[in-house]
Amino acid sequence: MTEEDSTSDVPPGAKAINQDRFLDPEDAHDPDAGDPENWWERAYASEDPVPWDTGDPQPVVEALVDADAFADPVLDVGCGLGTHALALARSGHDVTGVDLSRTAIVDARDAAADADVDPTFVVGDALELGTSDGVLEVDAVRSVLDVGTFHTFEAHRGDYADALGRVLEPGGRAFVLSFAVGAPDDWGPELVSRDDVREAFDGPGWSVVEFRDEEYVTMAGPVPALVSVLERSDGPE
Ligand SMILES: C[S@@+](CC[C@H](N)C(=O)[O-])C[C@H]1O[C@@H](n2cnc3c(N)ncnc32)[C@H](O)[C@@H]1O
Repeated sequence: MTEEDSTSDVPPGAKAINQDRFLDPEDAHDPDAGDPENWWERAYASEDPVPWDTGDPQPVVEALVDADAFADPVLDVGCGLGTHALALARSGHDVTGVDLSRTAIVDARDAAADADVDPTFVVGDALELGTSDGVLEVDAVRSVLDVGTFHTFEAHRGDYADALGRVLEPGGRAFVLSFAVGAPDDWGPELVSRDDVREAFDGPGWSVVEFRDEEYVTMAGPVPALVSVLERSDGPE
């Protein structure tokens, strides 16, 4: 990636990101441990606002909250600046947000203090959830919210599903919002199909509850999106 790319104002994606540049798992619990070389960290540390966060929760997430879809505790994975974790906390949910970026987590904590709500925000690698090197215990949560994180994991989708499966207790649900066919394919995120989701979550511990065609609101307006609702039917493999 060129320096120019790294300050681009379009959303990032798997192709543009060196996914090997994760935080050292040793430092995953330490909010001061953000790796300044990480693409996401640099995006959040930049003076430019990140283009994937309008500052308001995605309407589809608000609708899920209103529909009481989330059982506590909730994990917001790849929570960024905490926009959705804060919305959940404001609605009375017990929520933890995890993100690779130290800067994002520090900003999310500041936003929580300003909003006078009390979600937990931790630095951590989503692919290491529920491992001895990662954050959260096995079966730690009853719901997972993913807004725009799965669609960055082109080469790691199966590992990501395994990670969610470790921390989501049996019977718990994951709600995953991704760019879908019809969204711009040159902004970074991979466009996700139902088959992509089925393929990633194909272990015996997962079942697909439903797919919904929805919209993902970006700074450039709404784009086609897929909501996947997945249920953890077994214990961890
Ligand atoms: C498109 S952004 C979405 C952020 C947030 N969910 C929102 O709606 O604004 C994707 C997020 O995933 C985070 N992320 C990427 N890879 C990650 C990983 N391996 N572990 C934890 N977070 C990760 C990024 O730092 C970024 O905050």
